[in-house]
Amino acid sequence: MSVKFKMTDVTKSYKDGKETKVVLKNANLEVRAGEFVAIVGPSGSGKSTFLAIAGALLSATSGSVAIGVERIDAYSQAQRTDLRMRKIGFVFQSAQLLPYLTVLEQLQVITEIGKGKDKKAQTAKARHLLTALGLTDHHQYPASLSGGEKQRVSIGRALMNNPDVILADEPTASLDATRGYQVVQVLAEEVHRHQKAAIMVTHDERVLPLVDRIVRIENGSLHEVKRS
Ligand SMILES: Nc1ncnc2c1ncn2[C@@H]1O[C@H](COP(=O)(O)OP(=O)(O)OP(=O)(O)O)[C@@H](O)[C@H]1O
Ligand SMILES: [Mg+2]
Repeated sequence: MSVKFKMTDVTKSYKDGKETKVVLKNANLEVRAGEFVAIVGPSGSGKSTFLAIAGALLSATSGSVAIGVERIDAYSQAQRTDLRMRKIGFVFQSAQLLPYLTVLEQLQVITEIGKGKDKKAQTAKARHLLTALGLTDHHQYPASLSGGEKQRVSIGRALMNNPDVILADEPTASLDATRGYQVVQVLAEEVHRHQKAAIMVTHDERVLPLVDRIVRIENGSLHEVKRS
């Protein structure tokens, strides 16, 4: 199995007046194709910071990050934006859909940002993804969807660019237990079926049986959790 994501000795600190606050300290993580990893840890331990660095939304103070064979730590803003469009899919805590677009249009927008792609093929892809995610009416607006349905649309949107790496920050936070489990099940299937690498920050213990590995952030570094 190939390595899709690799973070090596990443440190992230913030200047807070005279003090320097170290959030991540020599953090290491490797995720292979077909692996779904959960990141757990107390509030304020650096989970979102970690994910933002992994997804090239934020740069590390030191250390290196690679998406596949691509080293991204020295990338400019423009290169980061380009990398995110090519290789990364984000799923956030709330679905963040645009209220005036239909379900289908939420996914098509990604194509329009990506420019130059075959529109017909992309529409077919959007329909296929939505159907695979259990959404049959593609002309509904977000207001008429349940929380779980909205989150499934946001997963579809994250998969539109066929990303190598999927990053999810508490994707079940706004859902009840059953919906939350179903949404993570959809993510797990996608990872396993299409050999993606996924990293999901979660507080939700009930979804942990669905992931392949659990990693805990403690004092700024990452530790593999042994499972019984
Ligand atoms: N831009 C910033 N400037 C200064 N400190 C920051 C900044 N962003 C985050 N921090 C600090 O970094 C630490 C880690 O924040 P982070 O959001 O990564 O935690 P988290 O593990 O995601 O927490 P939660 O579970 O509450 O979402 C916190 O102490 C936070 O205050
Ligand atoms: Mg967070």
